[in-house]
Amino acid sequence: MPYSDQPTVIASGVEIPLLGFGTWMLEPEEARRMVHEALRIGYRHIDTAWIYKNEKAVGDGIGDAVAEGIVARDEIFVTTKIWVEHFHRDALLRQAEESAISLGLTPDLLLLHWPKPTPSLKETIDALNEAQDKGFTRHIGLSNFPSPQFREAAALSKAPLITNQVEYHPYLSQKTLIETARELGSSITAWSPLAQGKIADDAVIGEIAKVHGKSNGQVTLRWLIQQGVIAIPRTTKVERARESFDIFDFELSADEMARIHALARPEGRLGDWLDAAFHWDQDS
Ligand SMILES: NC(=O)c1ccc[n+]([C@@H]2O[C@H](COP(=O)([O-])OP(=O)(O)OC[C@H]3O[C@@H](n4cnc5c(N)ncnc54)[C@H](OP(=O)(O)O)[C@@H]3O)[C@@H](O)[C@H]2O)c1
Repeated sequence: MPYSDQPTVIASGVEIPLLGFGTWMLEPEEARRMVHEALRIGYRHIDTAWIYKNEKAVGDGIGDAVAEGIVARDEIFVTTKIWVEHFHRDALLRQAEESAISLGLTPDLLLLHWPKPTPSLKETIDALNEAQDKGFTRHIGLSNFPSPQFREAAALSKAPLITNQVEYHPYLSQKTLIETARELGSSITAWSPLAQGKIADDAVIGEIAKVHGKSNGQVTLRWLIQQGVIAIPRTTKVERARESFDIFDFELSADEMARIHALARPEGRLGDWLDAAFHWDQDS
């Protein structure tokens, strides 16, 4: 297995590194630099999206690392996403090809960025499968799909949907969706895993961090990957990227895990752009 030196999760037979590097809001120049640095540090999973307008820069950052011999292409797991304006068949295939060209590689994973009621889920899922058949991506998946739409998409898809990337951090429960993913043989990827930095001031996480000689960010990421959830933190700072990668040498106890789970609260959601036709799972 290409990522054998770090923890991974297997979803429908596909191995995915549990820790990735997020690139939302990174301007192209910064995205290129940080992706290169992240790969130098040891990250083997990079997350981008068409709407982030940095796919080419992300690809260039990967290219820089490959050219330096830091990593080989097949040792990296690269995810990108189909934007919601491209959910009709032809537009989806056009964007899938464009994303692969911009990245300069075939992504490992192509996600539908947010669910929407039109066009039909069948048309979009068929097109996503077609994009995979045409070689524009190795695997396919979803993002921001509540359980009912997650199940519907999985039933419609010929190929397995290997992840559902959703907001998940200590202030938001995703118990139901994690269970749904498990039942479907899929996985959950946590976006905003650090609650966009809010965990830095948390007293409970701080107490646990002190016990382990770690930072609040490290404890939070450990809490996620210890659940078998993929985490994709983002930073513009190399030192923080290094810190977030240093989470494989300690373990949280069952009691510590439970104390962090107990921080979830109804108003904990940070990014709610779900179409009004759909509803989040009851606990999230
Ligand atoms: N699928 C979707 O709809 C979706 C939505 C949102 C995000 N995502 C993906 O998920 C990734 C991560 O989510 P995110 O970028 O929203 O949030 P995040 O990773 O939870 O937080 C990033 C923010 O936290 C700060 N930060 C980083 N490390 C920290 C630490 N150790 N302590 C305190 N603050 C820290 C960063 O600031 P500095 O730069 O100053 O370090 C940045 O402002 C994105 O980059 C993107 O790839 C996907």
